[in-house]
Amino acid sequence: MYQTVKMTINGRAREIPVDIRESLAELLRRLGFTSVKQGCQVGECGACTVLVDGHAVTSCLYLAVWAEGKSVLTVEGLRGDNGELHPVQQAFIDEAAVQCGFCTPGLIMTAVEIVGRGIPYTREELRRLISGHLCRCTGYENILNAIEKALRQANG
Ligand code: FES
Ligand code: FES
Repeated sequence: MYQTVKMTINGRAREIPVDIRESLAELLRRLGFTSVKQGCQVGECGACTVLVDGHAVTSCLYLAVWAEGKSVLTVEGLRGDNGELHPVQQAFIDEAAVQCGFCTPGLIMTAVEIVGRGIPYTREELRRLISGHLCRCTGYENILNAIEKALRQANG
């Protein structure tokens, strides 16, 4: 059964027919937003994380129809008007926080929400805040360095 859903994706208003059983992750990938990774598909790895109305959600567990009237942001929507990277993306590059990259888009979206709060979290708090993300490569330290760096920049 299909339903037409109105939502905004990366700033662009869309009206999209979706299978009512389709996850937001499946929909976003079908539309070409391939930054959204489908790892476990059961809410365990965080690779599929996107922002819905500014909040990080695991889009594999979030039905596309639930996004009716909402604003969805993926990594593709982070670039500035002149193509510049988001400060969180730049911090991940600067701190070598990426190896294979599979976990990276989800972590970046969670980090964008964290940094956007303007709260000077401690490293231990950041560690807990990203605990919903699995990374098989980096050991997490450089990821935490990157988020700390973006947080420092955002908080002056
Ligand atoms: S693919 Fe969604 S949490 Fe793993
Ligand atoms: S960089 Fe490979 S899983 Fe995180």
